[in-house]
Amino acid sequence: MTPGEQFILALDQGTTSSRAILFDHAGNPRAVAQREFAQHFPQPGWVEHDAEEIWQSQLDVARSVLQQANIEAHAVAAIGIANQRETTVLWERATGRPLYRAIVWQDRRTAPLCEALRAAGHEAEFSARSGLLLDPYFSGTKLAWLLDNIPDARGRARRGELAFGTIDSWLVWNLSGGRLHITDASNASRTLLYNIHANDWDDELLALLDIPPELLPRVVASSTVYGECDAHWLGAAIPIAGIAGDQQAATFGQACLAPGMTKNTYGTGCFMLMNTGQQAIPSAHRLLTTVLWKLGTETSYALEGSVFMGGAIIQWLRDGLGIIQAAGEVEALAMSVADSGGVTLIPAFAGLGAPWWKPDARAALTGMTRGTTRAHIARAALDAIALQSADLLAAMENDSGVRLAELRVDGGAAHNNLLLQIQADLLGVTVVRPRVTETTALGAAYLAGLAVGFWQSPEDVASHWQIDRRFEPSISDTERRARLTRWQQEIKRAIA
Ligand code: G3P
Repeated sequence: MTPGEQFILALDQGTTSSRAILFDHAGNPRAVAQREFAQHFPQPGWVEHDAEEIWQSQLDVARSVLQQANIEAHAVAAIGIANQRETTVLWERATGRPLYRAIVWQDRRTAPLCEALRAAGHEAEFSARSGLLLDPYFSGTKLAWLLDNIPDARGRARRGELAFGTIDSWLVWNLSGGRLHITDASNASRTLLYNIHANDWDDELLALLDIPPELLPRVVASSTVYGECDAHWLGAAIPIAGIAGDQQAATFGQACLAPGMTKNTYGTGCFMLMNTGQQAIPSAHRLLTTVLWKLGTETSYALEGSVFMGGAIIQWLRDGLGIIQAAGEVEALAMSVADSGGVTLIPAFAGLGAPWWKPDARAALTGMTRGTTRAHIARAALDAIALQSADLLAAMENDSGVRLAELRVDGGAAHNNLLLQIQADLLGVTVVRPRVTETTALGAAYLAGLAVGFWQSPEDVASHWQIDRRFEPSISDTERRARLTRWQQEIKRAIA
């Protein structure tokens, strides 16, 4: 620590843990803290978080990195936030008390409502205005469920007593002591309530879901000083200056700043985002069109493919099947066989996301013989992660007309070299892993740091991006096509 050195504090509020990272001016992480929190599964298909626990764990890790680095809060130039998206919180303005547990993005309870809206012919309208599809993934139907199921909630919402927010709103509300009720455009674009073309909440979509507008946060840019955190939380009134959904933040952290540049994050799920510049490209292949970030008055868009089970498949091998003790073991186990021996894992543990969108689909393990071992299943699991991402990229290239030169990757499972090699093989595209793989937090830090002049320009931050390793495709086109065709057939059979 040099005297007078300044830092940016990134808060990365993810699905299974809250993290805080302190970045220096070179974009290097200097202190990291992480805390897991409880996952609640009250019924099959339901996933909830305790919003208070999220806030407390996030505050704890923020305090912890300042302690670890042994710096005063005054050395923090700004706070940036990246968050699990779509997860829905409803709280009381007067007390800041949540009315219910947060309904997590993975939660499928609103599948019947989505189906009813689709049957009533509304999908095209939701899609044209919000860029999304009618799937329980997004916040809008989750919020409608809360308003339908908490006594008097809709009435109280109309009277202005309640506030809705995704996790970014919830954190900023708490950090600011209830002074700020905001969300950035990237998070707003995941709610199903936001018109991505007009850049505002959409009255018609709100009416279709019977959501009182009094609930909604003010939509802000992704990089600007919104206000300050209460001094008593961290020891100083630090500017809160950057907000983005975690996948959009990772795209910024990967320096995918030009149209056509694409990243894939292997976290709980897999999220592939292609920067399409100022153009919101509608998808003809059931991808999402989403706000990437809003800088000043300029909105950038992305095509996104979201699959619900990525790294979580490896957790299932560990916790569900018990065939590995630790996630790190999967690579050696899968490497011990040349291929999956004909075994296919259809990872529809939480339904299937893009491009299939089948909320009720169930997972399947097919093609086993008497000779199948846990190594084949581990290999099939890695294949499944990579095959889902291959489906996304194919759809994305078709929608955008861009043939990808390289795919930048990050997230926990991107440390698995075998997975990345399989990915390059199945895509027929070079896969590139950067040196700093904390790209989500880094993106949030960049957005905040740009707002306070810690960094000068997006180009300035892009110059920090460095390659760790490249993975080149190593199988023939014929083999690639054969494997992709087999996969498509297996999926169609599983969801038939
Ligand atoms: O859309 C959900 C996504 O934001 C969750 O990200 O990293 O918490 O799995 P992660």
